[in-house]
Amino acid sequence: MQVGTLSVRGLTKVFETKDGPVTAVDDVNLEVASGEFFSLLGPSGCGKTTTLRMIAGLETSTSGTIAFGGRDLAPLPSASRNLGMVFQSYALFPHLTVLENAAYGLRVRRTPSVKVKERVVHLLELLGLGGLHGRYPSDLSGGQQQRVSIARALAYEPDMFLLDEPLANLDAKLRVQMREEIRRIQKELGVLALYVTHDQEEAMSVSDRIGVFRLGKLMQVGAPTEIYRNPTTLFVADFIGKINFFPAASAGKGDVTLGSGWSVRPGSRHPLSAAEAAGFGVTSDAVVAVRPEHLAIERHPAEDGIPGRVRRRLFLGSTTRYFVTCDASLKEVIVETPRPIEGVGEGDGVTLSFDPSDGIAYVGSESP
Ligand SMILES: Nc1ncnc2c1ncn2[C@@H]1O[C@H](COP(=O)(O)OP(=O)(O)OP(=O)(O)O)[C@@H](O)[C@H]1O
Ligand SMILES: [Mg+2]
Repeated sequence: MQVGTLSVRGLTKVFETKDGPVTAVDDVNLEVASGEFFSLLGPSGCGKTTTLRMIAGLETSTSGTIAFGGRDLAPLPSASRNLGMVFQSYALFPHLTVLENAAYGLRVRRTPSVKVKERVVHLLELLGLGGLHGRYPSDLSGGQQQRVSIARALAYEPDMFLLDEPLANLDAKLRVQMREEIRRIQKELGVLALYVTHDQEEAMSVSDRIGVFRLGKLMQVGAPTEIYRNPTTLFVADFIGKINFFPAASAGKGDVTLGSGWSVRPGSRHPLSAAEAAGFGVTSDAVVAVRPEHLAIERHPAEDGIPGRVRRRLFLGSTTRYFVTCDASLKEVIVETPRPIEGVGEGDGVTLSFDPSDGIAYVGSESP
């Protein structure tokens, strides 16, 4: 066990409700290293907040263990876990100034006031609040208030920095700016961060690693590039970025044959469970997933590839997006190219193709 590592084992939470038990978190296993920025990502209701609250000691677990630096946190109440927490609502004290709000946790811990001032002034400086020490929360913008709550959470040098959708109340531009600031200050202080979000772009941009949740279960853990390039389930493939699914038949030796008859050997291969296949309306024994930027589109009929017809072409400036109707796909295909393809317009018959190594196969017969 490394110093400063968070270790979660078999963490489960069952809520008893009037409609019966609800399993909010289901056997989650997780190891987050010291100084790491780790995001819990998933759709609404998948158990992110409940997981974070159990780690924070704000919620009891039904079973499982949570340890920090090898020490079991179960006996410790939330206040003794040395955490810095930031929520969607800033929860600042309205009668305290910026400086007093940020220093709150240190004062409660009876830290000598010279030290408090030094630390808090430094943090406020790092967060661009240097000139606002004497202001009250009511005289600050939403972004500034959230910065104060971040300073307050980090002032007493917490072991873990826990954030639950901290940017949800900010406008789109400020969200992008603030997430960069959160990442910068986290790296500067070297504090372990657990960041809850349902925004996959946000998670991709700030995290060292991401854990993708679905219905209380941790589906996949990995670096953003790994999760994007090699999702191990249809759910993660579909949830992260855009992707196209082509039904296929397993042709042995790692080859699969697409509905158009084109045989390829995809770059990676994962089992496809019967439940997932049913959930995505897959009736074939395999599916090949391909990202829009990995598809090529051409006007002339080609021997290898997937035939389709362009329904809509969208020029988006830095890319051009084509929506292609195609029999050999689960739904309308999205193709994204850096520039418009000469001579390919709406209503045109086209052939789609991809480098097989960019394809990801999910094969049913190989599932346990
Ligand atoms: N106190 C509670 N009592 C009963 N059920 C609860 C309670 N808290 C959460 N749940 C249920 O547990 C599941 C997970 O909730 P949780 O708040 O952890 O989801 P989340 O991933 O944070 O979602 P969101 O993105 O909407 O915040 C949901 O089905 C929710 O209804
Ligand atoms: Mg939540």
